Amino acid sequence: MYRLNALFTVASTALAVICAAAALTDWTFTPDPSVDLKVKSYDGLQREAGEHRAWMTMQLKTDLGSLFHWNTKQAFVYITAEFETPRNKVNQAVVWSRIVQHQKDAKINETLRFGYPYQLTDPGLSLHNTTFNLTFDWETVPLVGAMRRDKRVFSGMKFPGEYFRTRSIPKGW
Ligand SMILES: *[C@@H]1O[C@H](CO)[C@@H](O)[C@H](O)[C@H]1NC(C)=O
Ligand SMILES: *[C@@H]1O[C@H](CO)[C@@H](O)[C@H](O)[C@H]1NC(C)=O
Ligand SMILES: *[C@@H]1O[C@H](CO)[C@@H](O)[C@H](O)[C@H]1NC(C)=O
Repeated sequence: MYRLNALFTVASTALAVICAAAALTDWTFTPDPSVDLKVKSYDGLQREAGEHRAWMTMQLKTDLGSLFHWNTKQAFVYITAEFETPRNKVNQAVVWSRIVQHQKDAKINETLRFGYPYQLTDPGLSLHNTTFNLTFDWETVPLVGAMRRDKRVFSGMKFPGEYFRTRSIPKGW
């Protein structure tokens, strides 16, 4: 009985030390990833199935290396487009997401195209000339402790003012 108790004490002490270290890392460590996100091209704005649909291509350049340390299990990153219309004060659509598991994959420099399942639509038919934001959000899932999240906002973008469609949009959209 005594030995079992001692073992248990050692184990829970070790756990307490790990948790304290995790708390300390969270406390002292503020990740500061570099993020550059742009709209590279607008590829279409159509009225289809009674709603507005918009397509665009984005260029994302980021280094998420600072999100990774011993207590990081993975990082979930996503891009949201946000705009205001007469019908809704806040319209949000996730336009891209990725789970980054390893530090070696933390540098991203990619051209991102809209594609299934991501789309940007407005049933109120008011995307023409509407300004919007792109937010780059990240959440880190730790091995021990609480999830953390933060974001960068890129503002001042504007949907096109007329209907058009480039050939890069797949059929059926
Ligand atoms: C864009 O982001 C800025 C800063 O967060 C915010 O003040 C503004 O309301 C946003 N605009 C839209 C249309 O979401
Ligand atoms: C990032 O990608 C763009 C477009 O593909 C390319 O022009 C640029 O050289 C790349 N930059 C780096 C640092 O790899
Ligand atoms: C969008 O803005 C442009 C430039 O101000 C204008 O010529 C065009 O008519 C607008 N489109 C709509 C649908 O209001």
